[in-house]
Amino acid sequence: MLRIVLGSTLTAAQTADPGLQRLITQGRGSLAVLLGDGACRYRLLGKDLHWDRVLIAFDGERALGFASFRYARRGPFALNWPPFRREFGVLGGSWRFAGFCLSEWREWHYPFLLYGLRVVKAARNHGVGSALVQACCAEALKHGVGAIDLEVPLGNTRAQQLYRKHGFVPRRRRWLAPLLGMRRALGSGTRPSQSATP
Ligand SMILES: CC(C)(COP(=O)(O)OP(=O)(O)OC[C@H]1O[C@@H](n2cnc3c(N)ncnc32)[C@H](O)[C@@H]1OP(=O)(O)O)[C@@H](O)C(=O)NCCC(=O)NCCS
Repeated sequence: MLRIVLGSTLTAAQTADPGLQRLITQGRGSLAVLLGDGACRYRLLGKDLHWDRVLIAFDGERALGFASFRYARRGPFALNWPPFRREFGVLGGSWRFAGFCLSEWREWHYPFLLYGLRVVKAARNHGVGSALVQACCAEALKHGVGAIDLEVPLGNTRAQQLYRKHGFVPRRRRWLAPLLGMRRALGSGTRPSQSATP
């Protein structure tokens, strides 16, 4: 049975789970030059996640995927310099950390941003991604925002199709990055459901 929970409702033992931290720090492949591979990203960002900005899909105790969001200028990742210094040294860490801060600040104008979405490979095509998108829309409605934005790589047609299915429409291509902006308006009559068949 699929259930989707906000990370801030998890126990300390659950949020300390390296497997869950690794899952949530995946993605953002376009920032590989700044954040390195998945293992490096986990070391940089995994220990200080903002759990109130992450929705996690569980089947029993098993995490199947997550959706993270940015609201009120707070996203899933803390901007902490020490892990960058430890990982890359002062010089390499400085420009990577500055680049990461810039990429985070670039998105601050969105009132509510669907920041990241990922489903583990074994659980794909069973509606988990759809349920996470719907849960994220419900979260946005809870906060009273009028629209939810996201940015998706131009080549990621699978994700684009998923977002279109849930009412997101393309807005514009981002300058200097191979990203497509998409938006879904959240009218007062919108009632996102959370159906899934894992
Ligand atoms: C994109 C992703 C989250 C979809 O998760 P999922 O659990 O497989 O999604 P669902 O099962 O809910 O699929 C819903 C819709 O996605 C689209 N979709 C799923 N698999 C697809 C495929 N192989 N090809 C094209 N579209 C596909 C379809 O529109 C599908 O609707 P349908 O079932 O009516 O055809 C998942 O593939 C993933 O984690 N990909 C890697 C990370 C990623 O790309 N994240 C998005 C970053 S912006």
